[in-house]
Parts: sequence; structure tokens; C-alpha cells
Amino acid sequence: MTENVRIATEKFAALLEKQLARVERMKADNEMIDYTKLDKLIIGIVGGDGIGPIITAEAQRILETLLADKIRAGKVELRMIEGLTIENRLAQNKAIPDDIMEQLKACHVILKGPTTTPDAGDGCKNLESANVAMRKGLDLFANVRPVKVPEQGIDWCFFRENSEGIYAVGTEGVNVTEDLGVDFTIETTQATERIARMAYDYARKNGKTRVSIITKANVVKTTDGNFLNICKRIGQEYPEITTDDWYADILTAKLIDPKRRTQFQVLILPNLYGDIITDEAAEFQGGVGTAGGANLGNRYAMFEAIHGSAPRMVEEGRGQYADPCSLLRAAVMMLNHVSFFEEAAKLEKALDYCMFQDKKLVITGREGGATCREFGDYIMASLDR
Ligand code: IPM
Ligand code: MG
Repeated sequence: MTENVRIATEKFAALLEKQLARVERMKADNEMIDYTKLDKLIIGIVGGDGIGPIITAEAQRILETLLADKIRAGKVELRMIEGLTIENRLAQNKAIPDDIMEQLKACHVILKGPTTTPDAGDGCKNLESANVAMRKGLDLFANVRPVKVPEQGIDWCFFRENSEGIYAVGTEGVNVTEDLGVDFTIETTQATERIARMAYDYARKNGKTRVSIITKANVVKTTDGNFLNICKRIGQEYPEITTDDWYADILTAKLIDPKRRTQFQVLILPNLYGDIITDEAAEFQGGVGTAGGANLGNRYAMFEAIHGSAPRMVEEGRGQYADPCSLLRAAVMMLNHVSFFEEAAKLEKALDYCMFQDKKLVITGREGGATCREFGDYIMASLDR
């Protein structure tokens, strides 16, 4: 064995030990928080970078209005959490600085604006994405991303596994030699079972008749193979629901096929395919700027836009034209998650009305379109229609 191989093998061994310890933690962690039993629900609000603070300000304003009674009665607190910015994260060389992680952990649910992720080309190679770090740190194992285009019969709900796959140890790959780089893909029974159960439970509760499992198990035999088999096994506990499975490439194509795409309902995907395919899916609905998502765990939940911080918009001076709807859709999911069904329905109705029916104001992302603030006012004025 060469010295290079020995060093790489040692790193691999340490990585495996850490993952096995994580499996044990997952086995022990199965207590769900019950939000309805809390004296006071603490909602953390994180601005993020780029267009993040702009769209988050609108979401905060609308939540303050919707939850005014509950806030006044001390049942809900909206708590601003400052400092999750790319400047601060780079200065501290931490994906999420410790003091911010502590503040996040003191909340029950979090509404988060997009945060900038530096890539290897930015000269700060190993700074992990704040999103990925938050998902891992708070064990937010399910990324739930709905996409709806009612007039085209599209009503999809994606359940993206959020803690494993190629993301689990994305910063812990190894350059074995100058010529050989290796990354690792992780799949565990516990994580696959919990995402599959959540997807099937959702299908059952919402009268959905079909769940599709998406993998590349024809090529990625071990991890995707396990993922597919475990999801199918869980599916057998739901005999009223039809399960089918698709490879990620052909599924990507079939989402464009007008005859096929309306047949998909609930989809379960490993992390990376879920990342890619949910961006494609959101495009049908009007782009990633219109799509929100939930990151759910047993104890914590974080709600966010599915897009990034759009630094180009800010650089080109178009930040004020950013679309707040993605984060407002995420806020609807958050309100439903904590059982504030009435407020959730009110906001959802206002969003549907402004985005799909009335369309008096339109966001274009540039001059000529509505500003984020104007659109926020428009939604606010449509809450009590
Ligand atoms: C998403 C984003 C993140 C991801 C990035 C910012 C790390 O694209 O939430 O889909 O890849 O998960
Ligand atoms: Mg993505």
C-alpha cells in the first residue's frame, strides 16, 4: 500500500466511524415535537444574503399581520436572528457560527432567506453551505417541495431526502493523489425509512393514490439500490397507494411530457436528484422564485425558498425587484406545520389570487415589474378578501 493510499484509507475509516455513530443517534431519536402543546411558539427569522433580507422583510411583515393576535397574547414570538451572512461566515470560517447555531436551536421553527454558498473557485474551498450545515445540525431530514400549476393539472409533492447521499460528507472527499479524487455517497436504512414513511403518510393523509420512487439504481447499485428497496418495502404498508419507480434521467424527461407529467403525485428522491429535479419542477410554476420548501426533522423545522441568494440580481442593482413569493409559500408551509391552519389558508389564498388570478402586479425581476415591497403590499391587501 502506498503512503497516499494509507492516508486516504485512514480518512475513510474515520468517516465510516462517524457515520455509524450517526446511525445510532438516528435509532435513538424518534420523539416528535408537538407544537400545539407549547406555551409559546418561537419562530426564528433569518435574513441571509443577497436578495435574502429583501424577501425576508416582506415575509416578516406579513407574518406580523397574520399572527398579530397570537403575538399580542404571548403565544407566538417572531425572533430575528442576525449575522448568518457570507461575510460573517467567511470571517469566522464556519458554515454556521456557533452563536448563531445556538440561537437557531432556541427556536422551534425557522423561516430562512437564502444564504450564499461559496464554491471551490471562490478560494474558500471547504466552507460548507449554510443550508447543508443547518439541515445537518438540526437533523432536518426531509425536504418537502410542492409544485402546483392548477390550469395544467400539475400537482406534485417532492420528498427529497435531506441528510444523506452525496451531500452527507460533501466536504470530506479525498484527493488520494494529484490525479485521483474520491467523494462518498451515504445511504442508511434509518434515513431512507423516515423519508419514505413521511412521503407515504402525506400521500395517505391527502388522498393521493400514487407514489413514485426516483433513483439511478440501475447504475448506483448499492446506495440507490438500497434506497429503492427500502422505499418499496415501506410502500407495502400502504396497500391503497400505487408505488412505481423511475430512473432519475427518464423522470426528468417525463416531467416535460404533457401526457405523462400530470400523472405524478408524490415523489421520493435521494438528495442530489431531489435538488436538481425540484428546480426543474419549479420552472413549470413560474420559476424557482415562486417555490418554497420545508426542511423537516423531529424537533426542528426550517422553511425557505428553494432558490439561492441571486447575487447577480443584487450586483446589477435589481435586488428590490426580487420575488417574495417563494418565501411566502414557505411561510404557508410553516403555518400549516405548526397547525395554524386558518392563517396558512389565508396567506395561501392571497398568494393564489395575486399570482394566478388577479395578476394586477407582476414580478419580472427587473425594472418595469413590481418591486418586492409593492408585491408585499399587494399580498397584504389581499389577505382579507
Ligand atoms: C437547495 C440548494 C442547496 C442544495 C444549495 C444552496 C447547497 O440548491 O436548497 O436546493 O443544493 O441543497
Ligand atoms: Mg437546489
